[in-house]
Amino acid sequence: MSLLAGDTWLNAPAGSFLRIPADVTHSTSRVRLVPFRAKEQQQVTDRFSSRSAWASRACDAISGAVAGKASERFVWAVNTLEVRSADRLLEVGCGQGVAVSLVCERLTTGTITAIDRSPKMIEMATRRNREHVDAGRAVLEAIALEDADLGDRRFDKVFAFNVAPFWQQPEAALGAVREHLARDGAVYIFWDARHFAPEGARDLGNELADRLREGGFSVDRVLVEDLRPVPAVCAIGRPKG
Ligand SMILES: C[S@@+](CC[C@H](N)C(=O)[O-])C[C@H]1O[C@@H](n2cnc3c(N)ncnc32)[C@H](O)[C@@H]1O
Repeated sequence: MSLLAGDTWLNAPAGSFLRIPADVTHSTSRVRLVPFRAKEQQQVTDRFSSRSAWASRACDAISGAVAGKASERFVWAVNTLEVRSADRLLEVGCGQGVAVSLVCERLTTGTITAIDRSPKMIEMATRRNREHVDAGRAVLEAIALEDADLGDRRFDKVFAFNVAPFWQQPEAALGAVREHLARDGAVYIFWDARHFAPEGARDLGNELADRLREGGFSVDRVLVEDLRPVPAVCAIGRPKG
């Protein structure tokens, strides 16, 4: 489990991808980071979506290890959002819903909608947030951002932590977000800096800010936080014009 203890992610930025070889059965010792090219992404994604039961368990073990170890980054992220009790939030790529729980603790009349393309992740997020879902504070949906029909819903804050489309297809991802931002709404893109040398976290933040600009947003702030096990960054933006 040494790699897992290193808090590794699927769809990691900076040219790497977490790969589970097809013939891995009960061991996670061969899970490793490999360089990734954009055109391989779909193949890898497809493999995960059709993964067998053992691979599903392996992925869940990875996610569980990550979620368990990574609470510091979620706490920082939710503090950064400065959630007000009546806020309407959207989280894209909520994974197991750890941030959803922290957000819901701060809401009274507000709500959070959280989407993830993985039904498995939404199942886990729903289980984690059952009381908030039942109370109507959290709405969780298994759908990809690009396919989501959010109707006329508007959000004060939209955020994502380590979610690939904001890195790889910022125009499309941020275009979808822009449609659902309230007036004065803001987007918060968080990333952890595991693939950067400690002093390089600021570079990651600046690259994220460039992604925001590519997506037609102006950049309010770039934050760098020295967290354990790795620093994290956040680029905060608002739609231009
Ligand atoms: C690396 S995980 C991060 C999960 C969570 N945000 C966290 O930090 O623990 C990325 C998540 O984004 C989801 N995801 C990737 N692309 C997506 C998309 N286009 N729309 C919605 N969810 C997406 C994945 O299914 C995955 O659960």
